[in-house]
Amino acid sequence: MAAELDADELKRFSLRVWQYKMGEVVSLMIHLGDRLGLYQAMSSLSADGPFSSQELADSTGLNHRLLSEWLLGQAAAGLIDRSADNRYEFGQVQAAVLADEQQSIVFAGGAFEGGPGPETVAALADSFVTGRGLTYEEKGETAAVGQARTSGPRQRLELEGVLGEVGLTPKIAAGVSVAEIGCGAGVGLIELAGSFPSSVFAGYDPSATAIALGRSAVSDRGLTNMQFTEAFASDLPANQFDLVFAFDCLHDMPRPDTALEAARAALRPGGQMFIKEMRSSGRFETDARNPLLAMFYGFSVSSCLQSAMSEPDSLALGTLGLHPDRLNELLHNAGFADVRMHDSGDPAHLYYLAGT
Ligand SMILES: C[S@@+](CC[C@H](N)C(=O)[O-])C[C@H]1O[C@@H](n2cnc3c(N)ncnc32)[C@H](O)[C@@H]1O
Repeated sequence: MAAELDADELKRFSLRVWQYKMGEVVSLMIHLGDRLGLYQAMSSLSADGPFSSQELADSTGLNHRLLSEWLLGQAAAGLIDRSADNRYEFGQVQAAVLADEQQSIVFAGGAFEGGPGPETVAALADSFVTGRGLTYEEKGETAAVGQARTSGPRQRLELEGVLGEVGLTPKIAAGVSVAEIGCGAGVGLIELAGSFPSSVFAGYDPSATAIALGRSAVSDRGLTNMQFTEAFASDLPANQFDLVFAFDCLHDMPRPDTALEAARAALRPGGQMFIKEMRSSGRFETDARNPLLAMFYGFSVSSCLQSAMSEPDSLALGTLGLHPDRLNELLHNAGFADVRMHDSGDPAHLYYLAGT
């Protein structure tokens, strides 16, 4: 049968498929580099110019033979530069994306925290049969840590600036009560609690694992104006807050409509809701301009839509399902007014500020 097929097309399509296998394997190599501190080590070594595999082995104390193979793979993947005399360079751009978790908004290494284990993969397959998805909690600690490290750098380094751009800083500086629903480990909220000691901050998420990560970070930083509660958005107490945040989580909720109603009821008079949602248009053809679109659909099938389908009668939105028109409609139905969209320049997300 293969003989009847166009040989060039067959070759091109096979290459496309194998490139995804290469992506999976290179992802594992990036995970190892992140986990073993190799990107930080290469960043330090590069300050003195190109380095050899032996110098990397000496500085990390790791096995030279495996490191030399890993380095060649990194060079083959275009992640480091290799010269003909077998020396390597890891420049500032590479360090910003792969080494500098604390100071770089484009740090991506945390997204390679580790793929799903075999039990999660089996449960994902089961969900196609049963129609019942997995919650974030059911995906375990690696997923919670991965989520916090993936969204963390931008939340920590960008959130205060974005709050300034939408005019919320004076309000928060004056001292208000802020809740975040679907907060996960609450990386951005913890940063705000440190910067605005006269305000009080409350993070809510149904994942016990994510909440434990958040609580431990709060205690490490000795913050007294921030607390976490294991709860669904619909459990928010009424008439308690001046601001309610929802970052990258409404599309993960089975019922974002009732979550928004609860958020509206939780706000005091004059309160506002501030939302970060995926940048999507609601049209596949338009979204297809995004070169990473297939990855976002993969995130959906493996995480966001799973969570959104973890209860019966869900809206089942998923990663790309909460586009501006849909969110505006949900906000208005929940009783919000004066919805303003804000583009901070984040390539994957848009912000929305809604009044009461
Ligand atoms: C993609 S994560 C985002 C976490 C965090 N906001 C961030 O930006 O890193 C989505 C979160 O929504 C939470 N979630 C799912 N369903 C929820 C619900 N019904 N109410 C509140 N949170 C929910 C999950 O537990 C998960 O922590």
